[in-house]
Amino acid sequence: MQLADFDVDLFLRDYWQKRPLLIRNPWKAWRNPLEPDELAGLACEEGVESRLITRAGDRLTMESGPLPESRFAELGSGPWTLLVQAVDHHVPEVAALIEPFRFVPDWRIDDVMVSYATDGGGVGPHFDQYDVFLVQGLGKRRWRVGPRCDADTPLLPHEDLRLIADFEATGDWILEPGDILYVPPCFAHDGVAVSDDCMTYSVGFRAPSRAELIEGWSEHQADALAEDDRYADPDLTPQGNPGEITAASIDRLHAMVLEALSDRDGFARWFGLHASQPKYAEADWRPEEPIGEETVRALLAEGAPLCRNPASRFSFIRQAEGAVLLFVDGHCFDCMGDAASLAEGLCADSTLVVEPDLASSAPVVALIAALIDQGSLAFEDEDED
Ligand code: SIN
Ligand code: CO
Repeated sequence: MQLADFDVDLFLRDYWQKRPLLIRNPWKAWRNPLEPDELAGLACEEGVESRLITRAGDRLTMESGPLPESRFAELGSGPWTLLVQAVDHHVPEVAALIEPFRFVPDWRIDDVMVSYATDGGGVGPHFDQYDVFLVQGLGKRRWRVGPRCDADTPLLPHEDLRLIADFEATGDWILEPGDILYVPPCFAHDGVAVSDDCMTYSVGFRAPSRAELIEGWSEHQADALAEDDRYADPDLTPQGNPGEITAASIDRLHAMVLEALSDRDGFARWFGLHASQPKYAEADWRPEEPIGEETVRALLAEGAPLCRNPASRFSFIRQAEGAVLLFVDGHCFDCMGDAASLAEGLCADSTLVVEPDLASSAPVVALIAALIDQGSLAFEDEDED
């Protein structure tokens, strides 16, 4: 699905990670993909991350889900908002909202958070670390956007919320169904419902922090190092002051660290695994019994479509000679030839009918069986959400 009159190249050049942009209803025919009741239902489920924020005067209070069903009846007439994380994992129509934004690579996508608010409801002025497209689904919301913030931006004292102390808007818009506001990382923003039944879909991205990369990669490398892989100084000579750690020792120590972390191919493999770790382990489609390659072969021969678990993360990294490393939910598959073609196909589209010439290939059948058994893939209509 493509957005009408939306120039991707221009957007990436002038706005992506640079400045906010309001996009007035670019959808062919906007349809709100989720009913408020269904969202409330999800917020009551175990394993679904949700928050309820109520407002009394200027004071916002946050409660974490899962919420008891009775909570909604107690809310009264004051402003409140319910926010549910990763709704795309549960509702295919919400997952479809990501499609027009796939000019950004999949590994940068986090999830679609959905909010519901009564008139006056909102989460207060804040900034996030990540890019977001805020799609107005139902009702109206006033969005005010401010300047770029950082770790020094003063915050109001609050137990649960990081609210900006002196929010000053530089942009101010009322969003109606189908309108989209793009907000780059760290830009202040404040959305307040100006109607009842206000629903906003946040197509959110992620970007690894340097700290997360260093921590994860160095831990991975350290796990593989031998006990006796250690500093050694067979060339030791006496030094003037035994209290000194000499520059030569520091050079040698520093090199030990950099050498172990400089393995580019190893890093690629580790990063693929790291980036494809599922966000929530609960939404799993694992069959009770392994599917078996015979069944896979038979279903492929019938042309049965495969579909990806919407909670699964699929990515690939190209290797030499057409081979690829396929990463799915924290597992790595070395794929060549037909299996590499299948891997690329699975990464491109969330549903796939395997071409007849690939369907009879043994490595293709084996890869599909492995992905079905780990709960990342299913033949359509046979999934067990
Ligand atoms: C909301 O939908 O109310 C909040 C979204 C956000 O500010 O990130
Ligand atoms: Co935000």
